[in-house]
Amino acid sequence: MKFFVDTADVDAIRELNDLGMVDGVTTNPSIIAKSGRNIEEVTREICEMVAGPVSAEVVANDAEGMITEGRHLAKIASNITIKVPLTWDGLKACKVLSGEGHKLNVTLCFSAAQAILAAKAGATFISPFIGRLDDINLDGMELIAQIREIYDNYDFKTEILAASIRSVNHITDAARIGADVITAPPAIIKAMASHVLTDKGLAQFNADWAKTGQKIV
Ligand code: G3P
Repeated sequence: MKFFVDTADVDAIRELNDLGMVDGVTTNPSIIAKSGRNIEEVTREICEMVAGPVSAEVVANDAEGMITEGRHLAKIASNITIKVPLTWDGLKACKVLSGEGHKLNVTLCFSAAQAILAAKAGATFISPFIGRLDDINLDGMELIAQIREIYDNYDFKTEILAASIRSVNHITDAARIGADVITAPPAIIKAMASHVLTDKGLAQFNADWAKTGQKIV
């Protein structure tokens, strides 16, 4: 399973990247707004730090505008993945831009039907949003399972990029189903290291060790 980091916080990306935990980065207009930085400047900095794909999202709503913006974003660095929304115009832009050899991440996917269209349009990644489906009492993880089944049935090469990840369980559940990639905020990736029994066990080891009066070095 590949780990993408869903942020434009370069310090957080660097910390995870130094640990070998970053296979790519995803951003969107909300994430760029939260960073307070210029999209080209921050995206270039991320692309220089991370070897894998870095998703930069278009903001036009029409296909022509998305294509123009996508070509522009792709000039930032060779590892840019152009991110387009899963609309009819987004699919048109995906078809044109993927035909030019660009990598495409089709985002805001909320149904298996949408995911089929993205694969047909040449998407490199499909981004189903787990958390936002859970938010409205639908089953985000069931969507991942449906897309996995369909893509495997037809050997579609589009990679399933589980997005809108809100918990550690989302990551492990997506991994069990066979999502190719997860993208998660840095805090959730770091939370994967935590377990209450690890903390309890370590406290016990520390207490017992103190009683020995020994030092290792
Ligand atoms: O990758 C998509 C992700 O940023 C959306 O997450 O938590 O805003 O639904 P969220």
